[in-house]
Amino acid sequence: MFVSDGLSVNEQGHLTIGGVDTVELAKKYGTPLYVMDEMSIRSALREYKKSIDDNYENGGMVAFASKACAFKAMYEIVKEEGCGADVVSGGELYTAIQAGFPAERLYFHGNFKTEAELALALDYGVGRIVVDNWEEMETLSAMAAARNVTADIYLRITPGVDAHTHSFVMTGQNDSKFGFTLETGDALAAAKRAAAMPGLALKGMHCHIGSQIFDEAPFAHTAELMIGFMAKVREEMGITLTELNMGGGFGSRYVESDAVMPYGEYMWRIAGALKAVAASLSFPVPYIVIEPGRSIVGNAGITLYTVGSVKHIPGIRTFVIVDGGMTDNPRYALYQSPYTAVIANRANAPADQTVTIAGRCCESGDLIQEHTKLQSCGRGDILAVMTTGAYNYSMSSNYNRIPRPAIVMVKDGVDRVVVKAETYADVMRNDV
Ligand code: LLP
Repeated sequence: MFVSDGLSVNEQGHLTIGGVDTVELAKKYGTPLYVMDEMSIRSALREYKKSIDDNYENGGMVAFASKACAFKAMYEIVKEEGCGADVVSGGELYTAIQAGFPAERLYFHGNFKTEAELALALDYGVGRIVVDNWEEMETLSAMAAARNVTADIYLRITPGVDAHTHSFVMTGQNDSKFGFTLETGDALAAAKRAAAMPGLALKGMHCHIGSQIFDEAPFAHTAELMIGFMAKVREEMGITLTELNMGGGFGSRYVESDAVMPYGEYMWRIAGALKAVAASLSFPVPYIVIEPGRSIVGNAGITLYTVGSVKHIPGIRTFVIVDGGMTDNPRYALYQSPYTAVIANRANAPADQTVTIAGRCCESGDLIQEHTKLQSCGRGDILAVMTTGAYNYSMSSNYNRIPRPAIVMVKDGVDRVVVKAETYADVMRNDV
């Protein structure tokens, strides 16, 4: 039934996470509540880090894609683990810096970085700015030159790979708003231009083909295309680039049927393809950056809700209505994402009814999951939804003026608040 490692059931039949009773957490902090298992985050970072050390003789970096889950304590954990971070906006960049994150380990992404954001990146001295388009290249070059600094950049390349995932989170195909297209020659033209521009130092290439991908084949194919492209750059421009950022996108297990390979093995297979093509082109294996987001935090998180009502509609369906919904987890509404849920205070009971879990927002699309198995339940029971650590808090909203829940981090049986719950006053703090 359970899809992540840090979860268990204690002698009272209560779901536990990181050794802490979730029913007690719900009592202590109220619901909805995000709960994250710190050791799960740390071990995922370590597994990826080890895979880089094991596979790439010229080293590399695990840069946590912080869009998956960005708050101060998260950047602190990533920093302590010696990893880097991918930031995609001034807000993420600012939070990382406020958390004491070393700027040189930041990778700044985005297909529209404003002048103000680029200025922030130059002022903080972020490690690599990933240039997405021609206009940004011109703007950054002018800004860096005017400040008498050199911005170390990658170019975002669209490799033309179909990643077999939901179309909203697929980014590697030619029909994409991101990056310079490989197939059209745009990518090579951008490399030539970037190398000649003042204020810019072209350090390497970047690509990201999509998210929630289980199959290693599209990654392996991308690695081959990217090394091929870097060899082409060498041939045409006489420059051997030494860094390649392969992006993120490795899938997480949301439901029992999701077949996730251990990340170490996944990385080993991709590295095999990359090194084979590098050898065939006599191209030196670059310093490899990877940007996993979901697979670092997804399984580390659960969300606790209180059941408010159960509505049986004979012959149609049963709704279990909870005190949160699309405001704290918009992913079913957006992508019909699968989730596993359990009644946390009766976790050992058989999941013998099929229900739709609905939120409290004023619209019918406010669902967490449809046609899912659940224990019988009623008002006051605690419902836990698993695998909510990625793209839940970071995509949350105040729709219907609902305050965002707190985030509690658990480790070795101890819980601590890392993000406070919003209050009604917080919700209206900017109203004039
Ligand atoms: N690097 C870049 C440049 C990215 O755009 C992304 C994700 C990642 C890394 C991390 O990908 P991950 O390892 O987390 O799959 N909101 C969607 C996911 C959007 C992903 C956007 N970019 C969702 O909830 O499924």
